[in-house]
Amino acid sequence: MISEPVEGDLMRDDLLVTVRQLKEELNAVLLAHYYTVPEIQMAADVVGDSLALARSAEKTGADVIVFAGVYFMAETAKILNPEKLVLVPDADAGCPLADSCPADEFVAFRRRYPDAVAVSYINSSAEIKSLSDIICTSSNVERIIRSIPPEKEIIFGPDRNLGGYVSRKTGRKMMLWQGYCYVHDAFSADHILTVCRSYPDAVLVAHPECREEVLRHAVFVGSTQAMLDFTVSSRYERFIVATEPGILFEMQKRSPHKVFIPAPKNPENPRNVCRQMKQNNLENLVECMRRKAPEVVLSEELREAALLPIRRMLDRSQ
Ligand code: 13P
Ligand code: SF4
Repeated sequence: MISEPVEGDLMRDDLLVTVRQLKEELNAVLLAHYYTVPEIQMAADVVGDSLALARSAEKTGADVIVFAGVYFMAETAKILNPEKLVLVPDADAGCPLADSCPADEFVAFRRRYPDAVAVSYINSSAEIKSLSDIICTSSNVERIIRSIPPEKEIIFGPDRNLGGYVSRKTGRKMMLWQGYCYVHDAFSADHILTVCRSYPDAVLVAHPECREEVLRHAVFVGSTQAMLDFTVSSRYERFIVATEPGILFEMQKRSPHKVFIPAPKNPENPRNVCRQMKQNNLENLVECMRRKAPEVVLSEELREAALLPIRRMLDRSQ
């Protein structure tokens, strides 16, 4: 039996058509992160993790970049494309991890280790990037750390879990800024292990922004893209996924016959969804393309200073 389309579906389809028309009118490309809602992912030209989206922003021939993600991602696109108009559906959709690292405190942190190389996660503001030597994402963090001469000290910010993970992986001692992602840091090993016991044939995959107590039990640790690739190519059929559940849409799409179980919420800290990513919706997407606002604006001085460490990252992660 074919069910009648419901009103919500029709509205969504109309909005998707409008998005397509506006993209053509503006010669725009729509970039979306895997953690956005499925409707946004359906409308996007490119859906990816932070590194893939930065690369797409670098290469696009479009006049306008519409960025459905969080603010630092759109800011990175602007740093790479000063001549392009970069629009965001909601300028208040910031990343709390990035916001946890104010520039003045970071300057003081750097001063404590004047000879250290400062590696900053891409989840940071343009100002922090401009104060760093090199940027990394969760896709290339290991390669970036290994590219630093062994005799050099390293300071790493703002995510302490990602920093701790790569420090253990490479054996490099690193001074860590004590920031964390409220979504990934909230997962607890105890609650995940309870679910693992209910699905003995399932394996745990985890994002390196999770705590060590969780990562320790994972058969695979990697960026959003790397986790997705692992679930596609792996012989396993069932996965418990410890990251933001938005990625399950693409995982299920790419492996329809496999089973994906979101890692359980920690009842003491039940924050496993990124509220800021979910602030992007089809309504504010259409609105921002119609109004050509909000737009990402940066001073040329700040943009140039932030570009250098991003370029170093892109050059070292070919
Ligand atoms: P990646 O997209 O690089 O995996 O990072 C995850 C994240 O938290 C994005 O904000
Ligand atoms: Fe920031 Fe975490 Fe949301 Fe990623 S998932 S945007 S790190 S708050």
